[in-house]
Amino acid sequence: MYIVKKNIAGHDYYYLNKSFRKGDKVISKNISYLGKDKKEAEEKAKEIIEKMEKGISNINKGKIEQKDMDENNIANETEEADKKALEKKELTIDDKTSSILTIEELANFCKKKGFVYPSGEIYGGLGGFWDFGHLGVELKNNIKKEWWKFHVYREDVVGIDGSIITNPKVWEASGHVKSFVDVAVVCKKCGNKTKIDKHEVGKKKCEKCQGEFASKGEFNPMFTTQVGPIKEDSVQAYLRPETAQLIFADFKLVQENSRLQLPFGIAQVGKSFRNELSPREFLFRCREFEQMEIEYFIEEGMKCPYTEEIKGVNILVYDEKMQKSAKEKEGSEQSSESAAELMDLYEAWKKSIIKTDWHAYWIAKEYEWFLNLGANPNNFRIRQHCSDEKSHYAVDTWDLEYKFPMGWRELQGFANRSNYDLTQHQEYSKQNMEILNKDGKKVLPNVVCEPSLGVERAFLVFMFDSYFYDEKRGNVVLKLNPKLAPVKAAVFPIVKRPEYIKMSEEILKDLRKEFNVVYDKSGSVGRRYSRADENGTPMCITVDEQSLKDNTATIRWRDNTEQVRVKIPELREIMRKVINEGADLFKFGKKVNTRVK
Ligand code: GAP
Repeated sequence: MYIVKKNIAGHDYYYLNKSFRKGDKVISKNISYLGKDKKEAEEKAKEIIEKMEKGISNINKGKIEQKDMDENNIANETEEADKKALEKKELTIDDKTSSILTIEELANFCKKKGFVYPSGEIYGGLGGFWDFGHLGVELKNNIKKEWWKFHVYREDVVGIDGSIITNPKVWEASGHVKSFVDVAVVCKKCGNKTKIDKHEVGKKKCEKCQGEFASKGEFNPMFTTQVGPIKEDSVQAYLRPETAQLIFADFKLVQENSRLQLPFGIAQVGKSFRNELSPREFLFRCREFEQMEIEYFIEEGMKCPYTEEIKGVNILVYDEKMQKSAKEKEGSEQSSESAAELMDLYEAWKKSIIKTDWHAYWIAKEYEWFLNLGANPNNFRIRQHCSDEKSHYAVDTWDLEYKFPMGWRELQGFANRSNYDLTQHQEYSKQNMEILNKDGKKVLPNVVCEPSLGVERAFLVFMFDSYFYDEKRGNVVLKLNPKLAPVKAAVFPIVKRPEYIKMSEEILKDLRKEFNVVYDKSGSVGRRYSRADENGTPMCITVDEQSLKDNTATIRWRDNTEQVRVKIPELREIMRKVINEGADLFKFGKKVNTRVK
């Protein structure tokens, strides 16, 4: 086994790899992600190898059988997860060193810590609806805030906030009333209820038991509602199934108001609703969720000026051709693993695997966004939609996929919608949707790429990739990027004496002007540290005896438990630098020697 360093989008990532012989080929297989720091990676690798040698490890067999969450059984799913977690007497090395948890185990953790609960659980919950607790709402808000900053605060993008319920003609024009249709099916063998695309009827087999499906008819997943309190006078409307359409309907106004010239993008973050046939796998498929979407408009043939930025961005690419050859080789999951190829996105575009420069650019940007916020690059790949699975509006679509415990799944879609939507709205509304280009000529722009990401799926990615069980500490450490961490710091008086409490409260009052900071004085300091670790709190600020003498406090860094002593009046500025700019905490003071973890 050996350590491999990969440079992705300018950052180094370390992996533990193993090579083995298959026929006449030597194959290298990734065993574990080791982090971004060389020293930490070496230590972690040593630990893993030692355990594997002792026979404790189960790293390649780490997938635990997992039961899909049944839509009608939502209230029981966390209890089920509880029971499962208890039944699982010994954790595998995956659980201890990295983020390979089942989705139920994550749901259980989220409920226990206050991240996510089944909605209205005291009444049995409701399939596909979730409530975010005091930590979950912070993480979710931070994800949306970071997304907005990265995507909207640039010269060619502006944002909007459209209404959830709008004139139903919007959905007639967009094609959602007619074409946003799935077929409900039930497996004849195991009774698995699911939905499939129309083109899959008679072809697709049950993914659980390979049994044949019986069709239960078509359904449209848009929720309907009445607008107007008196039934006879009311209008039937829809809860929007995507945020995108308001961007198209408002397109002319936004362009005129913002005075943007092509190429440009319009972004939106907000709730979407789909009456999914079988909401399942915790937050993965909900009936109420949030989307973060951009419609990026160009004039036909416009070149992307940012292609230099995507050179050297490597990701596993799985195009239509590779998928077909993998299918021919049967045993889909195994062959899909080896059929996808690690490629430089610039090269993938140059070789026309990704058809347009814009598509390659936006895929690179989205991947970069995830990596900048601490996601594990090893868990990502891009997959092209095959010709028979594209949405009714799409010319070419790629998905950014993430390796969830239940397999590779769509995380984010990138559709080339051409001028389908603007043409439709032009026709249905009888309003001209053309705008003037730089030469004063009227053009109907194309949406060359629509990066569309679900907030809940991003939430899962950051939870999975930050969850570590630290054996030495004996607790979970949620190594969330400080920008995403729900609580930025916890303030502790080392003893519950009035002078310590007073000083801690003053620190708290000052830091709270800018950050979500908590005060914790219950239990031992060690217990308070583990509570903070499990919540993903990056810094613990302790007021001790010395604080009273020289107006300093210690800050303990979540990821390595080391401490530094800093001046109290500088705390706010230090937090600003560490959280917002990623500065190294240890350059702001003197390291403290301590035996307390
Ligand atoms: N405007 C394009 C659009 O809505 P989509 O592939 O249907 O495309 C985009 O959805 C993204 O929204 C998905 O990649 C996923 O992240 C998220 N999403 C879609 N349906 C979801 C659901 N039922 N639950 C959670 N997230 C969902």
